[in-house]
Amino acid sequence: MAVIYIDEEKGIDAPDTQGSETAPFKSLAQAYLLHGADNEYKVKKKDDEEFKPAAKAAMKKAVAYSEQQRKKKEAAAKRADKEAAEQAALEATLEAAKNIKISEDPALPKAVKINIQETDPKVIGQLRKSKDEPAEGVIRVCVQGRVQRVAKQGGLVFVVLRRGLHYMQCLLSGELTKTYDVLTLARETAMEITGELWEVPAGLRAPLNRELHADYFRIVAKAPGGDDAFTNRVPEDGDPAHSSMLDLRHLTLRHEKPATVMFVRDVLEGAFNKAYRELDITKVSPPALVQTQVEGGSTLFSFDYYGEASYLTQSSQLYLETCLPSLGDVYCIEKSFRAEKSLTRRHLSEYTHIEAELDFINFDDLLSHLEHIICRVIDLVLENPTAAAAIEKYHPEFKKPQRPFMRMRYSDAIDWLREKGIKNTEGTDHVFGDDIAEAAERKMTDEIGRPILLTHFPVEIKAFYMQKEEADPRVTESVDVLMPGVGEVVGGSMRIWDLEELMAAYKREGIDPAAYFWYVDQRKYGSTPHGGYGLGTERLLAWLLKLWTVREACLYPRFMGRCTP
Ligand code: 4AD
Repeated sequence: MAVIYIDEEKGIDAPDTQGSETAPFKSLAQAYLLHGADNEYKVKKKDDEEFKPAAKAAMKKAVAYSEQQRKKKEAAAKRADKEAAEQAALEATLEAAKNIKISEDPALPKAVKINIQETDPKVIGQLRKSKDEPAEGVIRVCVQGRVQRVAKQGGLVFVVLRRGLHYMQCLLSGELTKTYDVLTLARETAMEITGELWEVPAGLRAPLNRELHADYFRIVAKAPGGDDAFTNRVPEDGDPAHSSMLDLRHLTLRHEKPATVMFVRDVLEGAFNKAYRELDITKVSPPALVQTQVEGGSTLFSFDYYGEASYLTQSSQLYLETCLPSLGDVYCIEKSFRAEKSLTRRHLSEYTHIEAELDFINFDDLLSHLEHIICRVIDLVLENPTAAAAIEKYHPEFKKPQRPFMRMRYSDAIDWLREKGIKNTEGTDHVFGDDIAEAAERKMTDEIGRPILLTHFPVEIKAFYMQKEEADPRVTESVDVLMPGVGEVVGGSMRIWDLEELMAAYKREGIDPAAYFWYVDQRKYGSTPHGGYGLGTERLLAWLLKLWTVREACLYPRFMGRCTP
């Protein structure tokens, strides 16, 4: 029997502590755990005391602790053994699975390749109802897609294949489920599955209420599992606007919401094209590389164009104006670029600008046109079932805007903001002449809760080309359309159409008119009262789908600090 020493003040509990008088343990529990019953234990509580035999109660505690630790260790060892056995079994199964080769039964009829979303019985044949019913009209089909989900149930493997926004549930059974490829099937694997389409049994759900009972499959290209698995890189519940998700936007886009947003974006653009065509407005495509500014020098991206200073366009407006005499009313859907130096929820460096220019109109015509085009476009978008379902899903409280929109003069908005105590960026009451900042505008729009046509902004805070109001020349015939949740989605105005007035505006703004000779000529050769507007596609989409930021509304967003991927 040895004596084991414990010094509760100076001792050390380490695996190699000897427990001698000169190298004591710190705790009785640890000493007992390592040295067991057949020893004598001496303890000192303070450095200046003598070592004394351990108290009975303390010994009891140490024994209990040691027993508890022993049991824990045993359980952990058992678990580890079990896991090792399972792992070995899995490896053996996987090894064996490598030898399982499947082949397409040549006796079966040739499969017809169909799109995942195809529902036409002339293409896909009849859905089989059950094993017992005759397979009349049922044909063999083959679908291609990427793996969205894999689930094992009993001896069956359910694979949901995805093609774009469309899904098909496939059911693998028998030998197919034992293959190495199916045992290691990872999300995003591209594959082809062949079999018969069955109705989904009553009470169960699957896309389009059908499932493909596979008799054969072929892997087109595998995707990795483990650490490199798709969902480890871009988690399903990750915020698509988070910088880590934007870094991997090429993968994030494969998730349902970002893909749906892009789909609705396409529907939205299509709706604008249709709505403009209905009004006989012609689409044109102005240049992106320009040598004039439209919306002020502070947000211009400049570049060297074969030795000449040039810019990426901020707006196609000036070019649209030049098209009025040749084509009548015109519109375009083009990129605009703004070197915005702030990071907000609604500012991008590159955005898709929907702009229109209308000839021989007055300001009221412009406002009515805006109401019409927005309402018509929303109706057209809602006619698309996928887009309508997406709005319902992501923006359940969405309400179609009703005409007429609320019309509010800028000066009344200033009064409204003062009454509500909403301050300007300096923290003081708004005064006439203030640029209503994003936060204040958003508060106002959210509180009013419906689209607003905010009109008649002061000359000083608007662009050089805007027509002044005859009744009050301090203000312009200008309009911003404000939407709840986003704020400004449209900026428009009547344009100065008198040559002298335009030249005075250049002078006022300190702009050299030389580069604008083509815009000036517009006022020389049969000038007309005209006006137009620009609408931010991403902002409208953010409003429609209740997106937190316009960054989610872009395929690959560009904003300060991001130009990749
Ligand atoms: O109000 P803005 O600057 O007006 C113009 O560019 C006019 N020349 C358009 C015209 O009359 N043809 O911009 C128009 C709209 C804004 O209401 C907003 O929706 C969007 O373009 N927009 C932006 N969207 C995202 N990021 C930015 N940095 C944006 N700047 C403007």
